[in-house]
Amino acid sequence: MCSMTGTDSWESQLLETGFLGIFLCPLWSLAQVPPRCPPSRISIWTFRWLIVRIMLGAGLIKIRGDRCWRDLTCMDYHYETQPVPNPMSYYMHRSPWWFHRFETLSNHFIELVAPFFTFLGRRMCMVNGALQILFQATLIVSGNLSFLNWLTVVPSLACFDDAALGFLFRSSEGGAKHAVSRIQHQEAARCSPPPTRGMLVRQVVNVSLAVLIGYLSVPVVMNLLSSRQVMNTSFDPLRIVNTYGAFGSVTKERTEVVFQGTLSSDPKDPAAVWEEYQFVCKPGDLKHRPCLISPYHYRLDWLMWFAAFQTYEQNEWVIQIAGRLLANDSTVLSLIQHNPFQGRDNPRWIRGEHFKYKFSEPGGASAAQGKWWIRKRLGPYFPPVDLQGLRQYFQSRNWPHPDIY
Ligand SMILES: *[C@@H]1O[C@H](CO)[C@@H](O)[C@H](O)[C@H]1NC(C)=O
Repeated sequence: MCSMTGTDSWESQLLETGFLGIFLCPLWSLAQVPPRCPPSRISIWTFRWLIVRIMLGAGLIKIRGDRCWRDLTCMDYHYETQPVPNPMSYYMHRSPWWFHRFETLSNHFIELVAPFFTFLGRRMCMVNGALQILFQATLIVSGNLSFLNWLTVVPSLACFDDAALGFLFRSSEGGAKHAVSRIQHQEAARCSPPPTRGMLVRQVVNVSLAVLIGYLSVPVVMNLLSSRQVMNTSFDPLRIVNTYGAFGSVTKERTEVVFQGTLSSDPKDPAAVWEEYQFVCKPGDLKHRPCLISPYHYRLDWLMWFAAFQTYEQNEWVIQIAGRLLANDSTVLSLIQHNPFQGRDNPRWIRGEHFKYKFSEPGGASAAQGKWWIRKRLGPYFPPVDLQGLRQYFQSRNWPHPDIY
């Protein structure tokens, strides 16, 4: 079951964060280093509201979406079945059961309880910010969720004020406390009245922003409160305020699609040798170490994870890839790591095989052979195809035939 959309939600979060970022900048100044006035409180609160929504959305969808979040077993599966595990995932997967329970409980606390700290005063707001950043750091260490975790740190930073972050920018002379209070003093002098027309315009812009975000948040909050909560949706065409959620359900078994090609003219020939293409990150070759790519996003590898628990009929682009591999298409080949037919003839046939993958046992026999994974064949994912046979498939979908690349 699909637990996270591959293309939609993170881009929405990126858009929303970027939009809110516009209002952190001074309205009138084109100076590279604008006068040191703090951004308006409204602007800061739009970021706080964003992190609250991201976390509540993620927490609520979990509680509602999958039993394993309620009986606290989800983390028994997550490390192995997440889209693109990293080397730490391999070891974290073997944590004792009580640690996995503890992780699941902590997840609920951070996603469902801590966000409310935002509204309980400066100190509690900072506690929330610190917890959220720590949480994201843990996710970065234990898996490859591309830029999502880094992006989620951004609104968390709004939980801190200048006085709390001053130590990061302390000048060499004088203590940090001194510097901070001096900065605050200067800010107060520069940013308080006499009011100018620019400041008035600024006020109008800020209040309009608050009204806009408040108005667009209504359906988002209704959705959070609804028992039929949807995940990763936008309710306005510009996607300014969205609803988020991740891992509403956790897959319990990891399946993979493996592309194989052969030079044999007869794909039914039992003597045909099938050789495997290897993706950059996605598990394939059992000896291939899980990759470490955060914050980079290998989207093709990511999408292959979704394809693996659906069918090729639901993911016709998989056949498009097969056609392009048959045609030695350099664009598609540039997205994968190993082409077994490089420097040889093009394959005559390509097929997709469906496998179940599990981590090997650290210290076990497979690991001793250098295998990070063990796998079991489930059956074909798509049958052997050749360029001739694909002609019609491509034509009926108005795809250019791969021959002409
Ligand atoms: C496949 O493409 C590569 C470069 O894109 C080229 O060097 C190679 O000769 C091609 N292979 C065949 C069999 O045409």
